[in-house]
Amino acid sequence: MYLSEVSIELESIVDASIRKHGKFLIAILQDIQRHYNYLPEDTMKLVADKLKIPLRDIYGVASFYKAFSFTQKGKHIITTCLGTACHVRGGSRIVDAITKELGIKPGKTTDDLMFSQETAACLGCCAMGPITVVDGVYHSNVKPSMVKKIIEQAKIGIKKIDIKKQKQIFPVQVSCPRCNHGLMNPEHLIDSFPCIHITVSFGRKHGWLRLSSLYGSFNIESEYEIPIDTELNCFCPHCHEELTSSSECPICGVNMVPMIIRGGGTVHFCPRRGCKGHILDV
Ligand code: FES
Repeated sequence: MYLSEVSIELESIVDASIRKHGKFLIAILQDIQRHYNYLPEDTMKLVADKLKIPLRDIYGVASFYKAFSFTQKGKHIITTCLGTACHVRGGSRIVDAITKELGIKPGKTTDDLMFSQETAACLGCCAMGPITVVDGVYHSNVKPSMVKKIIEQAKIGIKKIDIKKQKQIFPVQVSCPRCNHGLMNPEHLIDSFPCIHITVSFGRKHGWLRLSSLYGSFNIESEYEIPIDTELNCFCPHCHEELTSSSECPICGVNMVPMIIRGGGTVHFCPRRGCKGHILDV
């Protein structure tokens, strides 16, 4: 029995997650990671105890996915791509500049738990590299001289930034990959830009979903409240074909939603509510 050292708060979080997800272990670990910013050891023991799964199996799953961490992370996660395309464009110089600015190397967290620095192999938008992602917001063509400002922006938060002045955060205009009809809705703005308008269904509900067209922003509006972790079926509002592809989400593995970018390229995003998996191929 592992329960003796477990706090009441921790147990109530795990209980609520099990009530919501049953034995879907990844979703339960995602809830815990979201709450604590990492997976505390006690929680792993508690989940093992409650689900009657060997602790080594829980660690096996948690250590397989990069989205999970066993050490406490900072409030802001700053990740720089060191894939081949970004590396040849100076990705390692960006890492050096962040290391100098924050005083921490990749894989480390500042003492005040404000920032963690990480690197990635490829973030799916090679033509715009080097890429640095801060709290899910993509910054393209990053130069060492931009690092200080990017970190300052992270402290302020994207919602308070005048997005129109930020050249690194870019909007996309998309159309349906089936009928090629535009999916932009200029009459409705999210993040100050025309939103992307599609229809979705989940359970017995069917309604509209509006997405921010700002690449790296995850702001949405929907006709119905969509519970976290719900996997949506997405449709073009013009031809009514389902928007799905064989590409799998790099974070949770579900089939991604494709859209064509005006001017060339595709963008794929994960249809699971709360998952931030997306791929940009320009
Ligand atoms: S190599 Fe950096 S996004 Fe692909």
